Amino acid sequence: MSRLLVTGRQKLSGETYVQGAKNSALPILAATILSKGENVIYNCPQLTDVEASLGILRYLGCDVRRSNSTLLISADGICRSDIPHELMRKTRSSIVFLGAVLARTGRAKLTFPGGCEIGPRPIDLHLKALRELGAVIKEKHGYLDCSAPNGLVGAKVTLSFPSVGATEDIMIAACLASGTTTIINAAREPEIVDLADYLNECGAKIYGAGEGVIVIDGCDSLECAHHTIIPDRIVAATLMACAAATGSQITLKGIISSHLASIIPVFEDAGCKIRCRDGCMKFSAPSRLYSMKTVRTMPYPGFPTDAQAPMLAAACTAEGTSVFVENIFENRYRHISELVRMGANVKTEGRVAVVEGVSSLYGASVEATDLRGAAALVVASLGADGSSDISGVKYLERGYENLEVTLSELGAEIKKI
Ligand code: EPZ
Repeated sequence: MSRLLVTGRQKLSGETYVQGAKNSALPILAATILSKGENVIYNCPQLTDVEASLGILRYLGCDVRRSNSTLLISADGICRSDIPHELMRKTRSSIVFLGAVLARTGRAKLTFPGGCEIGPRPIDLHLKALRELGAVIKEKHGYLDCSAPNGLVGAKVTLSFPSVGATEDIMIAACLASGTTTIINAAREPEIVDLADYLNECGAKIYGAGEGVIVIDGCDSLECAHHTIIPDRIVAATLMACAAATGSQITLKGIISSHLASIIPVFEDAGCKIRCRDGCMKFSAPSRLYSMKTVRTMPYPGFPTDAQAPMLAAACTAEGTSVFVENIFENRYRHISELVRMGANVKTEGRVAVVEGVSSLYGASVEATDLRGAAALVVASLGADGSSDISGVKYLERGYENLEVTLSELGAEIKKI
């Protein structure tokens, strides 16, 4: 079980490229199942969640080759339509394979992806929508047995919540349905737009991605495509939080500033100076942040729930009181008990966390229990007095490509053991 050893209070400086977006790569990898021929996917981050998806593609019979951040994927050899539990359980997002396998093969048998560290993670919106597209889905003994013997049929689907995964699942399935599908109250995240861009490069007819209503005209088949994955806005936010927690100036390269439109103002209110131009961000933090007032997580374009934990960690040493409201997931404050062990003063009541800024945190042995909680502990340890020993690094590796290497290149004293 690897751990991270961090000696805090080191200023960061220099510049670094932001990795490709995990939450764009995962649905796009599933969507390659729909296409004929060999896809080339560029800027795909090297993460355990990505490896889990590649394992599922290989199990289904796809040909998968990787050269650094470029993936060559062909689904021509697909010969299965079931995904075993040991592959499904590795990452929550494997549910997005449901729509892809069903649309391509007419059948799909997979276990419930299961809850995860941040909440029960139901899939009722996925199942309701796919049934409205004509799928017959039987739920028994913890797995789903799905079929669409006559193919899927386009329908008007309204989501009671703009679920990212459900929007992706429906969009993928609808590409090969007969007729037109309209998704009302669709998620608007940049990763949805990236998935639609890839599918349209394959010949799909998707209109309105990024808006609340998405229209998909079904096709008979899709061709392979070359696609470059967008940068990871949550990794960018995390690196900003690292600089904010250490009073540093850094430059982030390869970002799309419009994807950070709800994140940048929070840092600016806390006293940071941010300049974005031509895919570059110059970030400069004061020696001590002002408080972050109230940060409410919302569906895009609101403040992203995935940035809550690293942002809260930076708020622990701000001057004054910061309030966070986590509106998306039920159990996304598990990092707080560990931050309190490092001297943070945070009280939670349901969805609300109240952070009373302290002058400094102190290093400690802490344990990560989920992906973004792990990132929060890294942010806190960088600004803390003394050394920290962070276990549960496997969670970090799900979403951050060599974060400790990136940070040590920026001047942090951090190493993985
Ligand atoms: C995606 O998860 C992301 N994961 C999450 O990132 C992100 O936090 C989330 O979207 C919200 O932006 C990937 O893209 C792989 P949702 P997803 O469906 O699709 C409820 C990270 O750290 N819901 O938008 O699972 C659900 O319980 C991860 O990178 C239902 O009730 O999120 C949650 O409360 C964590 N029924 C809310 O909706 C459903 O059928 C948002 O979930 C589906 C979801």
